[in-house]
Amino acid sequence: MSDKLLLEDISKVYGDGDSSVKVLDRVSLEVKAGEFVAVVGPSGAGKSTFLSIAGALLSPTSGRIALGGEDITDLSPPQLNQVRLEKIGFVFQSSNLIPYLTVTDQLLLISKLSGSPSKAAQAKAEELLQRLGLAHRRNHYPDSLSGGERQRVAIARAWMNDPEIILADEPTASLDSDRGRDVVQMLADEVKLRNKSAVMVTHDQRMLDLCDRIVYIEDGKLSE
Ligand SMILES: Nc1ncnc2c1ncn2[C@@H]1O[C@H](COP(=O)(O)OP(=O)(O)O)[C@@H](O)[C@H]1O
Ligand SMILES: [Mg+2]
Repeated sequence: MSDKLLLEDISKVYGDGDSSVKVLDRVSLEVKAGEFVAVVGPSGAGKSTFLSIAGALLSPTSGRIALGGEDITDLSPPQLNQVRLEKIGFVFQSSNLIPYLTVTDQLLLISKLSGSPSKAAQAKAEELLQRLGLAHRRNHYPDSLSGGERQRVAIARAWMNDPEIILADEPTASLDSDRGRDVVQMLADEVKLRNKSAVMVTHDQRMLDLCDRIVYIEDGKLSE
């Protein structure tokens, strides 16, 4: 239905035996279409762990995950790969651009890997570059872009496959507050205009008014 992301009773334990650490303790979160949720909490609280599990990058120790109504908990690694490619767009703290690719090629890389027709991908890349105000930078390499531009390229890249779910891990950490706000505003607009779901981990209190809901992670527990 309108349930885009559902995490149920998720626990995560790193390591085993005496050295094991329980980072998440039966946390649950439901994110609907058109909803932008912020996750806040102290450093080391498990925010990145939580986001990685939500995005099928990391398996939980227990609990269940459903994306768009489909339970993905027991899928095989190749199946999870496919789910990630089709349904999820990630934006990380550092934009993680590839130094030797131009802006346009950063966007086309994944679609080449997943075998999409390159004409459609090129049109999509061009549309996104226009929309995010990056068209004049299309042939630039990352080292000649500002921090804000790099992060916008990362967002454009995350949107190439038109994912239903956008997951952002401290996307504003390397930006000044104006640039940071632009980036979060872009995420918020995408969620509202196109009925997507987004979860953003942030330290930045000044961005929270752009989100619909705030959840806190502390001592392995999640609270609203
Ligand atoms: N791969 C791992 N192996 C062992 N411990 C980890 C691993 N990843 C994270 N941790 C630990 O789990 C806790 C939560 O980490 P993380 O999810 O990165 O927190 P946050 O993003 O809130 O800062 C930290 O204590 C961290 O040291
Ligand atoms: Mg983190």
